[in-house]
Amino acid sequence: MTNIPTHHHPVRLRRSVLSVPASNARALEKSRTLACDAIIFDLEDSVLPEKKADARAALIAHFAAAGRPTGQEWVIRINPFSGEHGLLDLEAVLACAPDAVLLPKVCGPRDILDAGDWLAERGADDGPRLWAMIETAASILNISAIAEVGRTLGGRLDCFVVGLNDLRSETGIADLEGRPYLIPLLMQVVVAARASGLDVLDSVYNDFANAEAFVRECEQGRQMGFDGKMLIHPAQIAGANDAFGISESEAAAALVIVSAFEAPENAGKGVINIRGRMVERLHADQALRLLAKADLIAQKETQE
Ligand code: COA
Ligand code: MG
Repeated sequence: MTNIPTHHHPVRLRRSVLSVPASNARALEKSRTLACDAIIFDLEDSVLPEKKADARAALIAHFAAAGRPTGQEWVIRINPFSGEHGLLDLEAVLACAPDAVLLPKVCGPRDILDAGDWLAERGADDGPRLWAMIETAASILNISAIAEVGRTLGGRLDCFVVGLNDLRSETGIADLEGRPYLIPLLMQVVVAARASGLDVLDSVYNDFANAEAFVRECEQGRQMGFDGKMLIHPAQIAGANDAFGISESEAAAALVIVSAFEAPENAGKGVINIRGRMVERLHADQALRLLAKADLIAQKETQE
């Protein structure tokens, strides 16, 4: 068999990914103190056109100042590559050297290939990874072709972020608790991401004062298979870290599976019986990834 989907991307913690408007000095300063796994510094929707230039300058200064916590990914969301701000944003990206660039309003594979080519032409081969906002109706229709870009460009594309504010406004799909009409779309995004070994983050939840409904939506996202959630407010970080984290019982169960397959009596077996449950070798691979993530969480907690 060829082309078995492999998880060629390393395990990274992306439970809580906070959006910080680059035009908001107070929020930029505050972001230094927050325990989110990643930060998306936004130059797009949250920044007015007349503030874009100042926002770029503020980001360059912010990235140049010391004090980036180890292990926390720093991502810059640029404006559409085709518009008047996109290229200026990419120049700022070269000056900042973030871990990744988040491309907004992606419609098809070409949007990602274009950004990858632009970076490659400037010699940024080891430069930023690419993340893609999945927030247009076209991106849902083209989701498998977009995900396949994750197998090219040296694996530069490694994460999808669903954007329901744009998707709902373009499509008219209702904003309801439990997201009934969105579930089929969200599941396509998760499956396409996995087919190319990409991470995938659930959309923001706007009503940041409603902590209970937020936690319910995090739990739903976890059950759908998302790795984490894009956030808009610091009050959402703890809930997302918890919902997309790994409980002690999950880690213990994973360890049982890994040790069982390592036991000499199970060498050469593809499937075994663990306390009345069928467990296959694929579960051991899944368990290893889960334990790697649990290790990253433990490392992070000792740093805090
Ligand atoms: N990142 C960092 N800090 C933030 C923050 C964020 N996204 N949102 C709020 N804060 C800070 C505030 O600056 C304030 O800090 P302070 O204690 O130093 O004054 C504190 O958290 C409490 O904020 P609060 O007063 O509850 O909210 P607010 O009225 O200042 O801001 C929003 C509310 C929605 C405007 C703000 O949260 C925001 O801009 N979120 C991100 C929006 C965004 O990125 N959109 C694009 C992606 S959808
Ligand atoms: Mg958007």
